[in-house]
Amino acid sequence: MNKNILLGITGSIAAYKSADIASGLVGMGYDVQVVMTSNAVRFISPLTLETLTKNKVYVDMFEDEDHSQVTHINLATESDLILIVPASYNIIGKAASGIADDLLCSIIAASPGEKIIIAPAMNVNMYSNPILNENINRLKKCGVSFIEPEEGRLACGVIGKGRLRNIPSILEEVDMFFCEKPLKGLKVMVTAGATREYIDPIRFISNSSSGLMGVSLAKACKKLGADVTLILANSHYDPDGMKVIKVDTASQMYEAAIKHYEDMDLIFASAAVSDFEPLTYSSEKIKKKTKTNLILEFKQNTDILLELGRLKKNQFLVGFAAESENMFDNAINKLSKKNLDMIIANDLSNFSSIEAKVWLISHEETIELKKKDKEELAYDIVRKVIEVANFSKEGFDEKNS
Ligand code: CTP
Repeated sequence: MNKNILLGITGSIAAYKSADIASGLVGMGYDVQVVMTSNAVRFISPLTLETLTKNKVYVDMFEDEDHSQVTHINLATESDLILIVPASYNIIGKAASGIADDLLCSIIAASPGEKIIIAPAMNVNMYSNPILNENINRLKKCGVSFIEPEEGRLACGVIGKGRLRNIPSILEEVDMFFCEKPLKGLKVMVTAGATREYIDPIRFISNSSSGLMGVSLAKACKKLGADVTLILANSHYDPDGMKVIKVDTASQMYEAAIKHYEDMDLIFASAAVSDFEPLTYSSEKIKKKTKTNLILEFKQNTDILLELGRLKKNQFLVGFAAESENMFDNAINKLSKKNLDMIIANDLSNFSSIEAKVWLISHEETIELKKKDKEELAYDIVRKVIEVANFSKEGFDEKNS
């Protein structure tokens, strides 16, 4: 891989977590060079980082004995990514104001914003300070990316936003930074989850879809560079880094999908949409004493995907077919009836499971994908779609020329 990451550590209590970050990055195959501010050294020993990275840790601008080398410029140019974890209020303020009074600030000053990722960690009041907000926006305008902190219990005992984002998410952001981005410049919409159709204010019919497949597809598209809009119904998954529109019923999903459809390049309709809704809705709770047997009548819901197929212009439209019998015949039928470019056929055993086995059926071919974790499978699906739809950067440029 041979990618060099400069890990900048600043004076925040979360500095102790930088050892796990350094160790995770080394385990992923990156060469990690650590630069610490003098305040960071109060929280964690350079020796820990040196042992984990097998590289010298830099703190002082002038500590190199060989003065023919300019340390901060070398460190800046030799790194492919500058990752500041944790980033204090102070370093963000200095970087945004163009102050370069120590080694880490000077490296930031000598690097393009596009190769800097900052993960802040601080007290909730500091994090909500409008000055910090201005500084973050200023750096974002220069191309710097931020990994937002989480809400939770902070070192000062207060509960609020400011806790360093969890380590797996930070490592995933790094992975994302380096992976190729064939969907860059493209807009992707994903529908996911299980819609609900209400009988009375608290009772509804729905299904057991967890939303995992759709959320995994959305995350895979995001990782491959797309601008993602996820329309999500009743799922406990809550992915970061994309526009998530939460809906409840099929008609809310329909409205959201239609509203955003025109701008989209690629759509995955993975939601398990209720095909029927009760013919009548009781605005009061249905009382047991009023009925011995409750008989409900249903009417058909709008088929969202059928409508998207009808309105299709240049979008590449991918649907799902969940079948308990005649899977291929039914899927091929839906492919043409709904005017899709591809349909992902699977049997009902995949519902609410973390694994799935699917077939991708286009008008030209059927591709069988191995049974995998849905998260991994999502990458295989998106990569195949990119191939079939010719969504390479060149393909996209051609498409838009
Ligand atoms: N779909 C939709 N709106 C609906 C029903 C389905 O957008 N009201 C979409 C699903 O998200 C999926 C595809 O249509 O991408 C096929 O859904 P599926 O439930 O397999 O089939 P249906 O078209 O509903 O037909 P049937 O239930 O008869 O199999």
